[in-house]
Amino acid sequence: MPESNSTVERTLQLPSDQDSTGRTLGAEEIAALSDVIRTGTLTSTKGQFVRTFEKEFARTVGAKHAYACASGTAAVHLAVAAIDPNPGDEIITTPITDMGALTPILYQGAIPVFADVDDRTCNVTAKTIEAKLSDKTKAIIVTHLFGDPCEMDAIMELAASRNLPVIEDCAQAFLTSYRGKKVGTIGRIGCFSLQQGKHITTGEGGIVTSDDDALARRMYLYINKAWGYGDAKPDHYFLALNYRMSELQGAVALAQLPKLQGVVEQRRRMAARLTARLAKLPGIEVTQPASYAEHVYWKYCVMVDDSVIEGGAPGLGKALKTYDIASAPRYIQKPAYMCEVIREQKTLGTSRWPFSLARPEAVDYSASRYPGTLRALERILVLPFNERYTEEHVDFLADSFETAVKSLQKGK
Ligand SMILES: Cc1ncc(COP(=O)(O)O)c(C=O)c1O
Repeated sequence: MPESNSTVERTLQLPSDQDSTGRTLGAEEIAALSDVIRTGTLTSTKGQFVRTFEKEFARTVGAKHAYACASGTAAVHLAVAAIDPNPGDEIITTPITDMGALTPILYQGAIPVFADVDDRTCNVTAKTIEAKLSDKTKAIIVTHLFGDPCEMDAIMELAASRNLPVIEDCAQAFLTSYRGKKVGTIGRIGCFSLQQGKHITTGEGGIVTSDDDALARRMYLYINKAWGYGDAKPDHYFLALNYRMSELQGAVALAQLPKLQGVVEQRRRMAARLTARLAKLPGIEVTQPASYAEHVYWKYCVMVDDSVIEGGAPGLGKALKTYDIASAPRYIQKPAYMCEVIREQKTLGTSRWPFSLARPEAVDYSASRYPGTLRALERILVLPFNERYTEEHVDFLADSFETAVKSLQKGK
């Protein structure tokens, strides 16, 4: 235990999004699954559950089209495939995201070009994107990290000035809004993940949104091996995969969807309670979303100042472990460009394709080009969080945090 005048009298098991304690799965999902099994139709090409989920999801976020798919990775793949880059084209993205948001770029033969991030929000900005534009740029992918939206006005303005499509990765940002608009409807395409730990889940799964008829059609086709279901003379129109969601997942998704608003509201309420406590602590910077943005707190993050807190974020993470609180200093550990697949260009056989087509500058990952990214990862501490947190859980988290901070505060 860290030495302190502790106010933490006991540890409390926090709900986990990896099992039923931290999820909203229940009778509704079981009933929906029974219904789909009774129909005997488990494929979405013939059933109604996935189709209905797609319609309901489109309505929920305010998009014209939505198509469900196998994962958030598949969702990003659909988006990139719909944009249809030529091999060697560049797609600007972020180095602080899930690898599933990046490998689809490579599979489509494009080069992920990493923009730096703001060191407080960990999100890319118009300024950092602009610094990476080239005449090879084909699209921009932004990730609304942790459920906090990127500054979309400036990003959309920059994209419009270059006639570039923006893909929004909303895997962590269900119902996040920015100036009254839901993310996933601001850029040309929105991509969501329904993986185990997301706001709503089917274990694995994803969904894409778009108002653009042509892009939506390409994504629908891509999910279905580019087979033109329902067309007069269907064919396999282009290179594509089977990225379908099954009816079993569709049934669960459909039962999860009506719970989403409540999930987000509870997360926001509990985050506000946590912020009120943590914002007062020395050496701790809490996330303060802009007044015109709604953060949906996929995770709750703080920035830790190591000139005030002994050991910085890792030190604090270690101290929290003594209360059974599993936080994550550094979030993804290292910037995506430092992962073997990208750093060593381990792709298809020994070809290094598509990196073999890249401009040297596009794959220059020198530290001096990423000051915001490196600083953000040094300081960030990601706390576990989900919609089953009650005031009691939040107070326990805040008490533990306060005690740990006090015990590590330098020069007290
Ligand atoms: C920002 C982001 N993008 C993409 C993905 C990939 O989603 P999935 O794991 O469902 O393939 C994730 C998932 O964790 C994510 O957090």
